[in-house]
Amino acid sequence: MFDGPDGSGKSTQFRRFSAWVKGIGVPVTELREPGGTPIGERIREVLLDVAHEEMTLTCEMLLYMASRAQIVEEVVQPALERGDLVLADRFISSTHAYQGAGGGLPVESIDLVGNVAVGGWMPDLTVVFDVDPETASRRLNPLLDRMERKGETFHARVRAGYLEQVQRNPDHYILVDARPDEETVYTTVMESLEDRLSVLRAPRGLSPKANQSPQASP
Ligand code: TMP
Repeated sequence: MFDGPDGSGKSTQFRRFSAWVKGIGVPVTELREPGGTPIGERIREVLLDVAHEEMTLTCEMLLYMASRAQIVEEVVQPALERGDLVLADRFISSTHAYQGAGGGLPVESIDLVGNVAVGGWMPDLTVVFDVDPETASRRLNPLLDRMERKGETFHARVRAGYLEQVQRNPDHYILVDARPDEETVYTTVMESLEDRLSVLRAPRGLSPKANQSPQASP
């Protein structure tokens, strides 16, 4: 799963990585959040609409989770049952960074709702793209959406929220310095994922590990 602050370039890296994986013949299902299903795309419009200034933090968190609940049942579960590799552009770590660290919702509330929304369908691996605010703002479309408009202090907390998740859970997170140019970042991504890529290159069966809850990869 690829995640990171707005302007980190993660979606560009996501597209390149996904194209590479497909190119070596691995069946891939791509997710984007919020969105990725007809219902999720409508929720996305509500979430990012600049007219919705009055949206409360709890409503915001529940809408992100509602979009996620839909994509997990409609897309992720069938994809994993088919044996696809599921690649996601954002997932629950975004909620921890934005509504948790950024907005101030307690981790426990997010985990509680997250458990209802996704159950055990958690990513095997989350690649976090870290970027400084100046580089990030240069990369953003000047027409900022409702989340991008939240201001410097909020986005500094979001960035710190990602770094904290990486530190807390080094087995399931990789940190990539996303400040350099696209090509350099892509090389870093490929090097950081080298161990996993060798598994992908090998002939594979994707049945869930017997003693674990179902996992999406990476
Ligand atoms: P995107 O620009 O990567 O498509 O994401 C849309 C915005 O939604 C982005 O500003 C991050 C934000 N977001 C949250 O605040 N919480 C979430 O759970 C997710 C998935 C995204």
